[in-house]
Amino acid sequence: MKSLILLNFKTYPETTGKKALLLAKRLEKVRSKKYEIVIAPSLPTLEEVAAGTLLKVFSQHTDLAGLGPFTGKVSAQELKEIGVKGTLLNHSERKIPFSILKKIVKDCKRNKLVVVICASSLTEVHKVTQLAPDYLAYEPPELIGGNISVTKAKPEVIAKAVKLVSKISPKTKVLCGAGIQSREDIIKALQLGAKGVLIGHAVPKAKDPAKFLRELLG
Ligand code: G3P
Repeated sequence: MKSLILLNFKTYPETTGKKALLLAKRLEKVRSKKYEIVIAPSLPTLEEVAAGTLLKVFSQHTDLAGLGPFTGKVSAQELKEIGVKGTLLNHSERKIPFSILKKIVKDCKRNKLVVVICASSLTEVHKVTQLAPDYLAYEPPELIGGNISVTKAKPEVIAKAVKLVSKISPKTKVLCGAGIQSREDIIKALQLGAKGVLIGHAVPKAKDPAKFLRELLG
């Protein structure tokens, strides 16, 4: 099974509006036998990107909402209908109270979206893994957006998260993210037992994002 490279587009100037699909089209040319590339574009660009790229598209967030009177909300059902295949939940830039998260996960599973729950600490890993997501993404917030990768700064926490998750929810795969920006970072993550990584700024901020991604994947 291929390891997952989840590119979180966030809302950078390089990734939003009309630039989202252009970037996705460039990145879809990067082929890899070892890795599956998935992108999480900004919410307003999701439908256009999902329709216009060959890459699998995940949402950066999903709300507890259905199709109905839910002003400003993003529902799992609508995401499914527009071709989105999965969702990040509880990212440290978009935290969700646990009682609500529980219901959103249920709703996402009902709509057959791949669920990636983020956790900022081992305590949170312990708590949210009980919801049996497809992926648990460990991301220490203090390293997000920086140049020191989680694999360099906190390798032992990644290993502990892998162990903890395998005990609580054996089918859940672990990802890690924060500051990932080199081939070495990805290899290290896999050596520690992760099944992939989340990458934020490094790809869109690169001079040539597709070339950078190609080099990253080796
Ligand atoms: O979701 C991925 C993200 O939070 C990591 O961001 O910019 O540190 O790679 P970055």
